[in-house]
Amino acid sequence: MTDAIDISVKMGNLKFKNPFVVGSGPTASRLDQIKEAEDNGWAAASLKLAIDPYPYINHPPRYRWLKRKKLHVFTAEKRLRPEEALKLLEDARRETSEILLFPNITYDGEDYQGWAELAKRFENAGAHAVELNMCCPNMSFNLSATGERTGKATGASLGLDLNELPKVVKLVADAVDIPVIVKLTPEGGLIAQAAAASLKAGAAAVGGVANRLGIPDVDIRLPMDSIYRLQDEMTLSCLSGPWIRPLALRDTYEMRYYLGDEPFILGSGGVSDLQSAVQQIMVGADAVWICTETMIRGFDWLPKLIDDLKAYMKDMGYSGINDFKGILHKNIVSAAGLTIHGGYAVVDLDKCNACGLCWNIGHCPAIAHPDNITVINRDVCPGCSTCVDVCPRQAIDMVEQ
Ligand SMILES: Cc1cc2nc3c(=O)[nH]c(=O)nc-3n(C[C@H](O)[C@H](O)[C@H](O)COP(=O)(O)O)c2cc1C
Ligand code: SF4
Ligand code: SF4
Repeated sequence: MTDAIDISVKMGNLKFKNPFVVGSGPTASRLDQIKEAEDNGWAAASLKLAIDPYPYINHPPRYRWLKRKKLHVFTAEKRLRPEEALKLLEDARRETSEILLFPNITYDGEDYQGWAELAKRFENAGAHAVELNMCCPNMSFNLSATGERTGKATGASLGLDLNELPKVVKLVADAVDIPVIVKLTPEGGLIAQAAAASLKAGAAAVGGVANRLGIPDVDIRLPMDSIYRLQDEMTLSCLSGPWIRPLALRDTYEMRYYLGDEPFILGSGGVSDLQSAVQQIMVGADAVWICTETMIRGFDWLPKLIDDLKAYMKDMGYSGINDFKGILHKNIVSAAGLTIHGGYAVVDLDKCNACGLCWNIGHCPAIAHPDNITVINRDVCPGCSTCVDVCPRQAIDMVEQ
């Protein structure tokens, strides 16, 4: 029985029935999507970014899902007008009953007061919380990274400005009664400090977008082409999906480490299954935003993930999310604190077919192949274990000394 397992989490007075939130993006920009998300049990949806004044940089979407790398990339994207997002919110409030709705906003006008006014409009329209987009790398951050002059800081540029960020957060937090979630960029390397400044300024919760800008791929025979379809140029592109998981876990880890146990943290970046969801919680997330996976697979895989999560928790003896939230912190130590065991590699010649892959390991002083027979000299093997991973026949093992 998994009925006794409670997977709800609380952000102040706001209860999420489970930790899964449709991450802001193109899968939370229409009413039918919000309804489908609710039907499939998603606890909340963060609506697609609304920008005021409009238009900012706005294009029809051009995405690439690089399936083999499990990497999603894009730059061209359509944002919502505030009126569109307000209507979406009002319609969704009317036509759904349970799902929590978080508008995701950016103000790009002359003075920061506009942030507060925009947030207030969404509060009046029924938002359960409001998300400040301090994370999008495709706005002014992308412009400055590609050498263009930018006017005002928006998205990621504002999120990494530790002077300006708290001013905006405070204005909004003072203006609305609903919780303010600040969604932060890891660009600049100060996400934990930005999270602390946001909380001090009155945010109810913080989270990480995980997205980095990168150059996704180049055809070296056609270097002036673009990997995008219906788009001529290459761009510094916004990376997401499972490929960014290790970086995303680090972002959440850093925030939790710096902020301590209490603050509500949303993680994101490549969550697509039980393993990746639990890992985010284990590094400190209370809840997770999921965007790319909903773009590729829609919403109807969540019920199975919830079943899997409950079954896993039962197996592990966890009765609630807090039982394993942040537990990895005890196991992540600094380089200086490592416990290293002596040992060496041994080869099982019954399994080895002399394929030669391990003979080529460039840093290895220990593997030789007289007469095409693999020999490992344990006296000079420092025990790095690369050969175990290289061998396609599981013929090599490590032995502890
Ligand atoms: C196409 C696309 C559009 C996105 N748009 C927004 C957005 O409007 N606002 C926002 O805060 N995050 C946006 N994100 C970031 C996601 O919500 C999410 O935090 C990030 O992509 C990492 O999670 P994932 O790997 O599950 O996508 C977008 C991501 C993608 C891929
Ligand atoms: S463990 Fe490292 S050093 Fe030892 S045999 Fe394997 S690759 Fe060489
Ligand atoms: S990689 Fe494995 S199978 Fe290939 S030579 Fe080395 S031990 Fe043998």
